[in-house]
Amino acid sequence: MSDTAVGANPDPHSDDPNRRDFIHIAAGAAAVGAVGALAWPFIDQMNPAGDTLALASIEFDLTKVAEGQQVVVKWRGKPLFIRNRTAKEIAAAIKDDHADMRDPETDEQRHKPGKAQWLILVGTCTHLGCVPTFGGGEYGGWFCPCHGSVYDTSGRIRKGPAPKNLVVPDYAFLSDTKVKVG
Ligand code: FES
Repeated sequence: MSDTAVGANPDPHSDDPNRRDFIHIAAGAAAVGAVGALAWPFIDQMNPAGDTLALASIEFDLTKVAEGQQVVVKWRGKPLFIRNRTAKEIAAAIKDDHADMRDPETDEQRHKPGKAQWLILVGTCTHLGCVPTFGGGEYGGWFCPCHGSVYDTSGRIRKGPAPKNLVVPDYAFLSDTKVKVG
């Protein structure tokens, strides 16, 4: 990730204040991410060997995620958010379906038919790739601490610099309680 890359290759000769700010902000974001990881169960589903990782699919048991909870799993080297949405979160998303949006999509387009409670998203901000935290910002969804992008309860971008909604990966339900991602 970008903050790791910056930290791994510090440039001691740089006195560009913008660059210093970026390093500071990135470090802060990493700290916030660590708190988030403690708050949510983190289940590592990265079963395949490293050399097959790029093509890997994962299967996930949805019974591990209670209503109102989000689990983060690692998938193809990225965090994947698996969120079991409450009725209130779903209602908020549907209510805003026709709001003025930067990347217009209805909530229904972002989940499988009849499975509105399950939102599965690639957990990287579409601005510069930080990991947004759930529960921040005024739309009740995700907030990216790096530069202030705000996503709603459908993962749609509502404010801040991110250009696109959080990405919904290819996935399929294998049963009522099991999904295959990738
Ligand atoms: S990475 Fe810039 S707002 Fe998320």
